[in-house]
Amino acid sequence: MKQLRIGLIGYGFMGRTHSNAFTQVKNFFDLEYQPVLKAICARDEKNAKAFASKWGYESIETDWRKLIARDDIDVIDIAAPNNVHAEICIAAAKAGKMILCEKPLAMNGPEAEKILAAVTKAKVPNMVWYNYRRVPAVTLAKQLIDEGRLGKIFHYRAKFLQDWTINADLPQGGAGLWRLDAKVAGSGVTGDLLAHCIDTALWLNGNIDTVTATTETFVKQRKHTLTGKMEKVTIDDASLFLARFTNGSLATFESTRYARGHKALYTFEINGENGSLSWDLHDLHRLQVFDYKDESKIRGWKSVHITDGDHPYMKNWWVPGLQIGYAETFVHQVADFIQGLSSGKMASPTFKDGLATDYVTDAVLKSAKTKRWEKVKKVK
Ligand SMILES: NC(=O)c1ccc[n+]([C@@H]2O[C@H](COP(=O)([O-])OP(=O)(O)OC[C@H]3O[C@@H](n4cnc5c(N)ncnc54)[C@H](O)[C@@H]3O)[C@@H](O)[C@H]2O)c1
Repeated sequence: MKQLRIGLIGYGFMGRTHSNAFTQVKNFFDLEYQPVLKAICARDEKNAKAFASKWGYESIETDWRKLIARDDIDVIDIAAPNNVHAEICIAAAKAGKMILCEKPLAMNGPEAEKILAAVTKAKVPNMVWYNYRRVPAVTLAKQLIDEGRLGKIFHYRAKFLQDWTINADLPQGGAGLWRLDAKVAGSGVTGDLLAHCIDTALWLNGNIDTVTATTETFVKQRKHTLTGKMEKVTIDDASLFLARFTNGSLATFESTRYARGHKALYTFEINGENGSLSWDLHDLHRLQVFDYKDESKIRGWKSVHITDGDHPYMKNWWVPGLQIGYAETFVHQVADFIQGLSSGKMASPTFKDGLATDYVTDAVLKSAKTKRWEKVKKVK
């Protein structure tokens, strides 16, 4: 098997999911390339060494520029906060590295355009880690829609609900809390949570033409971890928008970190003329399917357990009836990326798809300010 030498940047939440995926993928998928954990890069040397020893990285770097300069690295994998994605991506592209970048691709559309221009010029394979596309139930939803089983789509409805920032004493900024600081995150729930909903929606239901949005910041000031001072909160705590898709369907999207009782409730429902589909991250191995063509006296919603060999990805795992979970979506993403290298057809979502989502989040944030319907820019 050929080697795919990985240089990972960031050892937080996503650094762990990616490392796990690189390690697992060869055990479950037959691939031309095998990821090799070559180097972990993080600013804190002691922590980087501890992470390297735990996960089996061969070496460490404390400056991502040095990682990119190394000629024993094929893939730069970015699992660091959003404000460093662009600089790292552009430098990695110039150095001819393949790039895997966490979502959102950039702080905003114009920044993502520069990243896309850099990888296009360098002709380097690239992918954004919108991992929910690789939940087998979500991939099956895509297959059913593409087979035309739903017919004309009328409605798309998505939510991503959390409750972890309700406490006004929670500080903002710094390690673990950079998501509450727009200078690092770009935006609040719009770029963090709704970006996932938007990526899935664009994949399942095509382009969004226009949006109208409203956002709210419920806690106006929080102590900043880095300055120790009370500072204005610059992120959106909640973001809701209506959308019109190019295919004529109408949509609602809602995201908040103030939905008491919900930890990571990502749900979507799609209604078409011949049927509907509904999915829920807290029950991720099930797809709810309604097929209007069923015989009327037994017609109803079916809760399909997505664990059979003919369900997406499942033949690579255990035996029918046994479930997989969140971590495996990242394994699937690595497998698809590698299969893309072998076939010459890059796996989605590419940086082009990442830019498309950033254009939607830009339009949502703009509309929340202008209080008007805003047109979503199209990726050229
Ligand atoms: N795909 C998903 O479902 C998903 C889930 C969570 C986060 N994310 C995305 O992943 C990225 C990281 O999020 P996280 O939750 O892992 O954050 P985290 O805070 O857990 O980890 C971030 C890591 O980046 C490191 N870092 C920060 N600046 C750096 C720099 N200049 N050089 C090197 N390392 C640096 C930090 O030390 C830390 O190790 C973000 O872009 C986020 O939006 C995606």
